[in-house]
Amino acid sequence: MVFEKVAETQDITPGQMKVINFGAEQVLLANINGTFYAVGNICTHEGGNLSTGTLQGNIVTCPKHKAQFDITTGKAVNPPKVLFMHPKINNATTYAVKIVGTVIMLEHK
Ligand code: FES
Repeated sequence: MVFEKVAETQDITPGQMKVINFGAEQVLLANINGTFYAVGNICTHEGGNLSTGTLQGNIVTCPKHKAQFDITTGKAVNPPKVLFMHPKINNATTYAVKIVGTVIMLEHK
């Protein structure tokens, strides 16, 4: 398991999100009540940028068609709203997070 430093804990206060580049991936880091989680930043529907969406509790809402993901599990909890269709979408990729002192580290897959 190879972990890499991606941010400092003080960079993301509780209730905030931050996008980082991690290898070839964009990863969304979020601080949920002092615990840090990481999921793929690109929406699994049509590529919306989740970091520009909204975070309420542990649910991030995509700005494009309002699909919702649980940031603690990556699970797609609500489908996109496209006209009257609600297509099924894949869950977000999750990344293992390790905190060492004030350093946030992510595990390379
Ligand atoms: S791109 Fe995210 S809901 Fe459509």
